[in-house]
Amino acid sequence: MKTIGIYISNTAVGISPVEVVELLSQAAEINAALCQDVPVAPGDEKTGEGKPAAKEAKDMLGWIGLPSALTLEELLDIERAAASLRELADVIVVIGIGGSYLGAKTVLDALGDPFEFLKTDTAGPKIVFAGQNLSEDYLAGLLAALEGSEVAAIVVSKSGTTIEPAIAFRLVRQHIEKRYGKSGAAQRIVAVTDADKGLLKALAEREGYRTFVIPDNVGGRYSVLTPVGLLPMAVAGIDIDELIRGARDMEIATHAAVEAQENPAAVYAAVRNALYRKGYKIEILAVYEPALSSLAEWWKQLFGESEGKQGKGIFPAGVTYTTDLHSLGQYIQQGERTIFETVLSVSAPQREVKLEPETGDPDSLDYLAGKRISEINRMAQLGVALAHTHGGVPVIEIAIPEISPYWIGALLYFFEKACAISGRLLGVNPFDQPGVEEYKKNMFALLGRPGF
Ligand code: PA5
Repeated sequence: MKTIGIYISNTAVGISPVEVVELLSQAAEINAALCQDVPVAPGDEKTGEGKPAAKEAKDMLGWIGLPSALTLEELLDIERAAASLRELADVIVVIGIGGSYLGAKTVLDALGDPFEFLKTDTAGPKIVFAGQNLSEDYLAGLLAALEGSEVAAIVVSKSGTTIEPAIAFRLVRQHIEKRYGKSGAAQRIVAVTDADKGLLKALAEREGYRTFVIPDNVGGRYSVLTPVGLLPMAVAGIDIDELIRGARDMEIATHAAVEAQENPAAVYAAVRNALYRKGYKIEILAVYEPALSSLAEWWKQLFGESEGKQGKGIFPAGVTYTTDLHSLGQYIQQGERTIFETVLSVSAPQREVKLEPETGDPDSLDYLAGKRISEINRMAQLGVALAHTHGGVPVIEIAIPEISPYWIGALLYFFEKACAISGRLLGVNPFDQPGVEEYKKNMFALLGRPGF
């Protein structure tokens, strides 16, 4: 089975293999507990209606067996809803925040065309996001941009009460209702929310919106492979079958049945915890492809919300190289030595650009003539890894062959599994986020919400 590469020799500047070995054996035990009721491979003994049983809903482990548990019927339902939105609209507003937003944004940015906005002849609808901020200018700009377009919306909120998406949804819903009437709106709005609870669920039922369910035992930041992520992806025309195939293969490659040292998620979790224990408190996820910048945002949310609690946790930061070599590069090379770096590398680009020789070599670049840009990017990556390790920054490398639905699916699941193992190695609950509530209570009190 194809899997991602994980290379840790450049961490020797900060930790020794002995320190990793001890943590690896703990990681194996943690993974065994996480996978307890999840079959080794799709088709192995499953419980209930073909779904692996999550041990307890409160443990929020439903995401572990999700890739192999997704049924053809569920995927067809998503594809059908996506097709009908695509048919009705040329702009689809996807509304959500945090885990209800970043997964879809990650995949769309990784697999979409960054120059799409310059094209006039695009086949599918344009996807825009809302509900991820409280900016009046952003929302005013969005509403103005929707004028004259055929619009539809997907609203995603597990709790159904989060203020940012609730506000954006009210505005977008009113725009849609004004234009198409209540019954038109019911055709154009899809809600992804809890099976029975929450204001969004109640509103969707009352208005007759199509709904998809976020399972009880899947938390927001582990929900990218539920309709939360899959519906916006399908609307954008992404091959969700391939993405799930990648995640499914990674589910098998990181199952407890695999030896810990062969399990990339266990290795990554063990190494980052070994580094943390040695005083490396900040992890920087470095990408060399701008298409992966949003993945770094998703990763920051996954690890930050999962691990930052009880006065503990590695602080997750993200950089896009080579852009950020010209900003944070200086700090990383010579600033405080509490940083380690995880480089997400991609072996092969999807497209080809070569530098051609030019008569007279006016810009002195002919020494690069005949080289592909990806070769130059690769040499930048090697040069940076050498410089950073020399500067006392341990570097982990996570490698995928290419940016494709399969490998993005594999990466998403890999990071989810690594995060769950890592959080438990750290001694925290990686599935709650009690600290997120405090600002909300203050804000509601300041805004005069009844009961606050
Ligand atoms: O990961 C999480 O649980 C959070 O980031 C949530 O996804 C985020 O707060 C949005 O919550 P909700 O989907 O309930 O609107």
